[in-house]
Amino acid sequence: MTEKNPEPLSDEQLAPQHIAIIMDGNGRWAESRHLPRSSGHQKGVQSVRRVVKHCAKLGVNTLTLFAFSSENLNRSNEEVGLLFKLFLTVLKNETKKLKDNNIKLKIIGDLSVFTPEIQRLANDAEKQLASNDGLNLVVAANYGGQWDIAESAKKIAVKSLNGEINPEKIDIALFQAHTSLAEHPKVDLLIRTSGEIRISNFLLWDIAYSELYFTKTLWPDFDENELDLAIESFHSRDRRFGEQNGEK
Ligand code: IPE
Ligand code: IPE
Ligand code: MG
Repeated sequence: MTEKNPEPLSDEQLAPQHIAIIMDGNGRWAESRHLPRSSGHQKGVQSVRRVVKHCAKLGVNTLTLFAFSSENLNRSNEEVGLLFKLFLTVLKNETKKLKDNNIKLKIIGDLSVFTPEIQRLANDAEKQLASNDGLNLVVAANYGGQWDIAESAKKIAVKSLNGEINPEKIDIALFQAHTSLAEHPKVDLLIRTSGEIRISNFLLWDIAYSELYFTKTLWPDFDENELDLAIESFHSRDRRFGEQNGEK
């Protein structure tokens, strides 16, 4: 047995360094108001702004947001078109604000399904924000956790064939280094809004030891206070990482 550190962890050390959110419930928010689903998605953008700002203020290192899953492509052409348009508008309108707030951006997922204009704007936004050193904002667009794992396997297979990687040396750390979130701290807290208790193919590899938090609140109603409640719940957890139960 290794020696335990006798010093209790400070609150700062316990603070979630990486928060990931499945932003769900936009459609239900709109439908309950007899509004088109699009207005729920638009309202959801305001929640994104609030949460990004709040995470930056709290000193969170990375915030990963599930904006569009690979399965969401199966929605009606109308809704997919609308979501793509909203993504484009957000990229156009928000990049400068992110720049001013010292926020860095990374977009993960299979971007090949997006229009060339969206791909270019996404790329430009990442470049424009690359020199910022505040909150790392990661947006998952046309993302699937299974896709991420398969991509990592593919990259490693190609390097093995090239002789860059010895297959005998493939281990967890090497696999991790080829995933979309390789450069970011481990996901401490995963939040899902809207009452669904499932992962829906969001981060899979990355949530091996994340704390999970589910709230019935619909994404357009999610605000700073709701995030504080999730973080409070995170602080109350006894993260054991497989070790025996004991004093915190
Ligand atoms: C989440 O809201 C946003 C996306 C999946 C793009 P939904 O559109 O899934 O809303 P509900 O779940 O139908 O209420
Ligand atoms: C997950 O929500 C995807 C996003 C929030 C972007 P969905 O609404 O697509 O998930 P399911 O269909 O309820 O599992
Ligand atoms: Mg949903």
